[in-house]
Amino acid sequence: MSVDPLVADEFVTFPLTVDGVPREVTARWSESLLTVLRDRLGVLGPKTGCGHGRCGACAVRVGVGPDEPHVLCACLVPAATAVGATVETIASLGGPDGELSDVQEAFLAEGAVQCGICTAGFVTAATELLERHECPSRTEIEEALYGNLCRCTGYGRIVAAVESAARTRRERKDPVPLTTRKLTASLRTGPEAAE
Ligand code: FES
Ligand code: FES
Repeated sequence: MSVDPLVADEFVTFPLTVDGVPREVTARWSESLLTVLRDRLGVLGPKTGCGHGRCGACAVRVGVGPDEPHVLCACLVPAATAVGATVETIASLGGPDGELSDVQEAFLAEGAVQCGICTAGFVTAATELLERHECPSRTEIEEALYGNLCRCTGYGRIVAAVESAARTRRERKDPVPLTTRKLTASLRTGPEAAE
């Protein structure tokens, strides 16, 4: 969305809820949501990468009204167009006392974090994917992360981390592994019951 150059430098005050906290923001019309978050509100989870929608380092989830929040590049959203929106940064994904989310844990465990500039964006996009899809294929993971760039890891470890997080979620939901269930059923009633 572009901003009328005649009003781009005018200040506007508007409400924004960031990571569950209602805030009042005064910013220029032309400022991006990323600038407002980092420079005006001190919310440093979203990172500044390319600054024009090509790297995903600034990804946050933005919800307006009753609509489900969606991942957007905060550098592309004129902040004042997000009036009244709810913004979830990486800080919304972990526990109340700073615990890491399962996706963040998986990134660490798989060695998918190096310099870290891209990580919040990848974790944000991966988290949204896993909320929609509990068993994504490798292709679906790669498609979901298509807008995120990483200069350090070579992507293989990032995809492995998302696969690992998905697997852990499925196992938590169904703590008895499938092979054990099949074996137990076959011991009770014969092999055909395990199908
Ligand atoms: S900083 Fe927003 S997409 Fe790169
Ligand atoms: S870990 Fe450095 S850019 Fe991804």
